[in-house]
Amino acid sequence: MAVVAHYALGLHQRLAQLGWTEYTGLALTILAVVFIYRLIRELYFSPLRHIPGPLFARLTKRYYEVVVAMGQMAPDARRNTQKYGNIYVCQPNGVSISNPADIRAVLSSTAFLKHDYYKILRFTGIDSIMSTRDPHMVSMKRRMLGPYFSSTYVSRMEPLILEHGINAIKRKWDGLLADGGRAEVNFCSTFTLCTFNIVSRLVYGQEIEVFKTTSSVDTLEWMSSSTNYISVRALLQLLPRPLFYIITLPWEHKYKQIASYVYGSIAERKQLLSKLKSVDEKSRPVDLLQALVDCEEPESKVRLTGEQIHAESLLLLIGGIDPTAYSLTWTMHLFMLYPDCYREATREVRGVFGAHHTVTYAEAKAQLPYLEACILESMRLVTVPGVQIPRTTPPGGTTIQGQYLPEGTIVFANLWGSHHSAEYWREPGRFDPTRFLNNKRAQHSVFTFGYGNRICMGKQLALIKMFTILANLLKDYDMSLPEDYTRRGPHVLDAVSVDEAPVSGY
Ligand code: HEM
Repeated sequence: MAVVAHYALGLHQRLAQLGWTEYTGLALTILAVVFIYRLIRELYFSPLRHIPGPLFARLTKRYYEVVVAMGQMAPDARRNTQKYGNIYVCQPNGVSISNPADIRAVLSSTAFLKHDYYKILRFTGIDSIMSTRDPHMVSMKRRMLGPYFSSTYVSRMEPLILEHGINAIKRKWDGLLADGGRAEVNFCSTFTLCTFNIVSRLVYGQEIEVFKTTSSVDTLEWMSSSTNYISVRALLQLLPRPLFYIITLPWEHKYKQIASYVYGSIAERKQLLSKLKSVDEKSRPVDLLQALVDCEEPESKVRLTGEQIHAESLLLLIGGIDPTAYSLTWTMHLFMLYPDCYREATREVRGVFGAHHTVTYAEAKAQLPYLEACILESMRLVTVPGVQIPRTTPPGGTTIQGQYLPEGTIVFANLWGSHHSAEYWREPGRFDPTRFLNNKRAQHSVFTFGYGNRICMGKQLALIKMFTILANLLKDYDMSLPEDYTRRGPHVLDAVSVDEAPVSGY
C-alpha cells in the first residue's frame, strides 16, 4: 500500500503543478487509488484470477453494462469466446461459458438460480414467471401455467394463430399485388405487426387487426409505444430509485394506460365467462388470457390474482413479440442472402402442398425437414434473445472447465459464443441448414429458447407461428431482394420485392 500512497501523492503533486484545482486533483487521486486497489485485488486475490478475460471486465461490472447498453453484446461475446475460449471472466464476479455440455449442465440444474438481473423483468413491481428466482414459486407457476403452453393446448390456439398470422399477411400482400403483380414489402415490420397481432389477440382477447383499418393503426401505435416504454422502463430500474422516478415521470401515463387496458380485458373476459356458465365447456375461449384466468395450482387449487394476471400478461406480451418477429425476419433475410437454400426450401414446400392449402404446424413439422433445418440454422446463426443467460452458483460453488467458481459467482450461459464456436460447428459463420439434417446432436446444441427447467414457455407457440408463416409464404410467393436496395440506405437490407403474383400451377 505504500507504493499506492506514494503514487497517489505523486499524481496529486503533478496535478497541482498543472494548475488543476485542489478538488479535481483530490477526486482524480481517489479514483486512481480505487483503480489500483481493484487492479491488485482482481489480479492477485480474486478467486477468478486464474481464468482469462478482458482486464476492464475484471475491474468493473460497468464494462459489461456499457457493452449491453451499446448493443454490442453479441460481437463482444463472439470476440471474447474466440480469444479466451470456453470460459472467461466477463465481470469482476462473473464468468461466461460456451461449451454446450457446460451450458446444458448449468441451465438444467435447479441449484443454479436466475441472477438478480431478472428483477428488471418485474414490469409491474411484482414477480412474473420470468423474473421470479424463488424455486418454490417457479415450480408452482410452471405447474399452473405449463399445461396451457403444452402442445395440446397450444394446438387448440392454432386457428387463431393462422388467422392473425399468415392469413392476415396474405390478405395484405394479395391486396398489394392486386394491381401490378409486383410489390415491395418490409419483412421486419410485416413480422413485427403480425406477431403483435397474434400475441395481443391471445393475451388480451381483443382483435387489433393491425393490417386493416385506420383506427387499428392508432391502437397499434398506442400499444407499441406503450410496450416499448415498458421495456425501456424495465432497464431504467437498474438506476438508483430517485433517478428512476425523475426520468420515468413524464411517460408514466403510458404504463397506467396499458395497466387499465389489461384490467379492462380481464374484467370483460370474466363477464363473458359468467354469461357462458350455462353453455358447454367447448365454447369457452382458448387463448392465453383464458389460461391466466383459469390456471390453478394442482394441489392447493390457488389461482392467480388480478394483479398477478396483469404482471404475467405484460410479460407474455413483451416476451412474445420481438424474439419471434426477429427470428422470422432473420430467417427470411438469410433466404434472400443464400438463394440456393431459399430455392431448396421453396422446392420442398411446393413439392408437398398445393396452392390453395394452408400448411399447418403439424404438417410442416412432419413433412418439411429442410425448412425445419433452415429455422434451426437461422436461430443458431442469429441468436436473437438475451445472448448471455445469467445464473448464480449454488452454496459450495462449482467447477467448470477445471476452474473452481465459489458460491455466488454469476455464470453467464454464452449462447452466441456457443453457437459460433469453431470447436463445435464447421464454418460457424456460414448459413448451412444441412448441418441439422439427421443430426440430433446438432439439433440439441441450439439454445435459442434456453434450456432446462427455465426453458422458454412459449417455445411451442413461437414455433407454430414460425413454421406456418414461413411454409405458407414460401409456397405462395416468389421473393427476392430489390435490384437496388441501396436507396433505402447502405445498412438497410430487409426490403424485398415480391416478383410475381401468388404462384400457381406447380
Ligand atoms: C422465437 C421466439 C422466442 C425466443 C427465441 C424465446 C427465448 C426465450 C429464452 C432464451 C428464455 C429463457 C430465459 C432464461 O432462461 O433465462 C425464454 C423464457 C420465457 N419465454 Fe420465450 N422466447 C420466444 C418466444 C416466446 C413466446 C411467444 C412466449 C409467450 C407468449 C414466451 C414466453 C416465455 C416465458 C414465460 C419465459 C419464462 C420461463 C421461465 O422463466 O420459467 N417466449 N424465452
